[in-house]
Amino acid sequence: MFRRIWQRLCSLRAAPKALLAQCVAWLLALALVRAGAVPFPFGMLAVQAGAAVALAWGLQSAWWWWGIHAVFSPLAWWVSRSAVAPGWYLAAFVLLALFYRGTVRTQVPLYLSNRAAMQALAERLPARPLRVLDLGCGTGTVLRALARLRPQDALVGVENSPALLWICRWRTRALPAVQVCAGDFLAQDWRGFDVVYAFLSPAPMAAVWEKARQELPAGAWLVSNSFPVPEVAAQWTQAVGREGALQQVLYGYQPNGAGEAAGAAAQKAE
Ligand SMILES: C[S@@+](CC[C@H](N)C(=O)[O-])C[C@H]1O[C@@H](n2cnc3c(N)ncnc32)[C@H](O)[C@@H]1O
Repeated sequence: MFRRIWQRLCSLRAAPKALLAQCVAWLLALALVRAGAVPFPFGMLAVQAGAAVALAWGLQSAWWWWGIHAVFSPLAWWVSRSAVAPGWYLAAFVLLALFYRGTVRTQVPLYLSNRAAMQALAERLPARPLRVLDLGCGTGTVLRALARLRPQDALVGVENSPALLWICRWRTRALPAVQVCAGDFLAQDWRGFDVVYAFLSPAPMAAVWEKARQELPAGAWLVSNSFPVPEVAAQWTQAVGREGALQQVLYGYQPNGAGEAAGAAAQKAE
């Protein structure tokens, strides 16, 4: 029974798990202070932080949550005692929300494709004009690079962060081949695209693959930077960074097979 409840808790999304770890750790720390078992405030904060880390570990949160739990309450305690005006916290929160509003849900933060990845992407694609979709176009780095390297293509980017969307639209305003759409890329229609480019995280790759299988035409490519589709062999891979770097490999897939003309052209490009 307990085991089953624990497994259910482990399968929660990252944010509710973090909240749960914090709340339970606070209850424990406060109970120990009340019982006189640990001194206030530093003993309490140490117990709270340690318990939150242990819970995050037990709940199978990603390793970087452990660090967040270790510093979260001590930092909150410290800033609550400092003389910084509350408006600054609100401003910082609004700014972060504008950039990272969707990250808690999607588990895909912003980081930018490197030059090698963009060059490899441009060279790997067939030379004929293509319709290319950048899933989560961020600040428009890939769209701008492709517009320069492959002027024959029609480029579409989708982004769910309001601030990044503004930046992307501003940076691509002079590029008529580029269209930037607001929204969730999983809610967009991918039919009619020849290439879908993804530089995301492991979290959405299974859903991306499923959608690509359902909507992309035969001969279309799904190219993923650094995060392979789980349990699917790529048609090709290309190194784009040194070992240990975030970006190491591009993975090319044809979710619905090679098609005819597109397949032949792609083979030629390889
Ligand atoms: C790792 S960045 C890649 C940015 C850009 N494509 C590049 O390669 O330089 C991923 C981007 O996807 C956006 N994103 C994540 N999930 C999304 C979703 N479901 N719909 C739209 N955008 C999303 C994030 O806001 C972020 O800007």
